Amino acid sequence: RSVLATRALGARIELHRQVDSTNREAFALAQAGAEHGTVVVAEEQTLGRGRLGRTWYSPPGINLYCSVIVTASMPTTQFSQWLSWLPLATALGVAEAVEGAASLKTDLKWPNDLLVRERKLGGILCESGSTASSTPFQVIGIGLNVNGTDEDFPQDLRAASTTIRQETGRLIDRNHLLSRLLLEIEHCLNELTIEGNGRIAMAYTRRCITLGRHVRVSLAGGKAFTGIAQAIEPDGSLQVASLPRQRGGRPEVCSIRAAD
Ligand code: BTN
Repeated sequence: RSVLATRALGARIELHRQVDSTNREAFALAQAGAEHGTVVVAEEQTLGRGRLGRTWYSPPGINLYCSVIVTASMPTTQFSQWLSWLPLATALGVAEAVEGAASLKTDLKWPNDLLVRERKLGGILCESGSTASSTPFQVIGIGLNVNGTDEDFPQDLRAASTTIRQETGRLIDRNHLLSRLLLEIEHCLNELTIEGNGRIAMAYTRRCITLGRHVRVSLAGGKAFTGIAQAIEPDGSLQVASLPRQRGGRPEVCSIRAAD
């Protein structure tokens, strides 16, 4: 039995055997006024959504698919800072939960991929919406590969994916993992609002393997910017610098915000 030690996250939990997408379901609940901390969990998703319009492979019985509704009331200036750090802080919370529950160290790829040995262990999809009375809310969707093996992935995903079981050789109790996940995410989100994000920014940066690497980031309008990732900006953007095209030119520096 897992005891939920959170204050708000998971105060209401909706469990489904199968849904199209827990994010879609949570979004509908939030629009209808579901409160902060409401969680939607599914054993299987038939239309799991990934970032940038991708799909998230969501077979039954082995993984974790959940979405958390969060709201925050604060002045606009603080709100935009909070909002831009939300995906990063969630990723940090998930990484800390995986480390705590499965003794597995995970890396973060900006903005919010969880990787082990460069393979994807989990991903996060944050979506913004508002209720009929214009109260803004966020839906944070988390997908984690837990107890599957290589054969559980379709051929085309195998090389780039991994699971907790593949990395540790052990099966994990998904209920325990979920309660740890909600607890660590709650801690990270609280730190974002109460204490500023000093600890979050530091702990995130420590885990982030993107810094110092050559990256290619897609920009709006089909363009892309390539360069070396230098830093996480105070607003959670990734600072990328590229060498001048011509001799004597100046390096170009670009700050890239995470897109859904
Ligand atoms: C990514 O592209 O890396 C983000 C993947 C997010 C997947 C999770 S699974 C639970 C929630 N419901 C969805 O439809 N997507 C997110």
